[in-house]
Amino acid sequence: MDTSQDSPARGRSIEVWDFPLRLFHWLLVVAIALAFLSSEEESPLAAWHVPVGWSIAVLLAFRLTWGFVGGEHARFAQFVKPSALAAHIKGLLHGRPEATLGHNALGALSVLLLLGLIAATVWTGAVGVDEEVHELIAYTLLGLVALHIGAVVMMSFLTRENLVRAMITGRKRRDRHPTADDARPPSPLALILATLAAAATVIGVLAYDPHSFQPQTREAGEHSPDVDSVKAPDAEADR
Ligand code: HEM
Repeated sequence: MDTSQDSPARGRSIEVWDFPLRLFHWLLVVAIALAFLSSEEESPLAAWHVPVGWSIAVLLAFRLTWGFVGGEHARFAQFVKPSALAAHIKGLLHGRPEATLGHNALGALSVLLLLGLIAATVWTGAVGVDEEVHELIAYTLLGLVALHIGAVVMMSFLTRENLVRAMITGRKRRDRHPTADDARPPSPLALILATLAAAATVIGVLAYDPHSFQPQTREAGEHSPDVDSVKAPDAEADR
């Protein structure tokens, strides 16, 4: 009996993205949208820009840890494979890209770029470097996000696989990956470790500024040495 495809025993779909990874992704989308919407000083959401930025730092801490301990396709070691890049690009150029179970080689590169640019945006916002540098990196990120969404839509058509639905349900169609197995799920210990990393980030951020997660005026959230010295009396009062 052929149990390799579509049999009730194996089910019609295959587990790919674990739940914490999907939750991370969609929370990140909401947080980055809010960060952009609140970025102008005249925005009614302006007071939320800094707390949202710090929340993104917490999400990043979770994702970085998850990249080492998370479910099979969430792990960096699983998808960061520069050697697969040439074959993937060749397939794309011939209009025959392979339907991969986890991230494809270009997708993996964009994941790293997206996470790196998000980290750089948070960092430049937090340490109070020149505002223009923060904006330049943030707008580069926006460009990459547009590219990311375009690539997801394009790859969904080319591979005839609904990648957005997969990022929502965590599952892909088994008939597109007949020989693959369900992704190895993350262990409960992994969830504890990644949650601890996120909690440690919250504690670190609060130690840096106890008001980090509260809505605040832009000046209060900036941390250039000059601004710190200006708001020193307030900071003293908090201790
Ligand atoms: C602020 C906007 C966004 C950011 C920063 C972002 C970031 C990311 C990141 C970092 C990943 C890798 C997931 C991981 O392994 O951690 C990813 C994957 C993915 N994202 Fe987004 N994303 C954004 C918006 C969207 C939107 C709007 C969609 C839907 C149209 C989308 C669909 C996907 C899909 C389908 C994947 C999996 C790609 C694959 O199959 O390899 N993303 N995204």
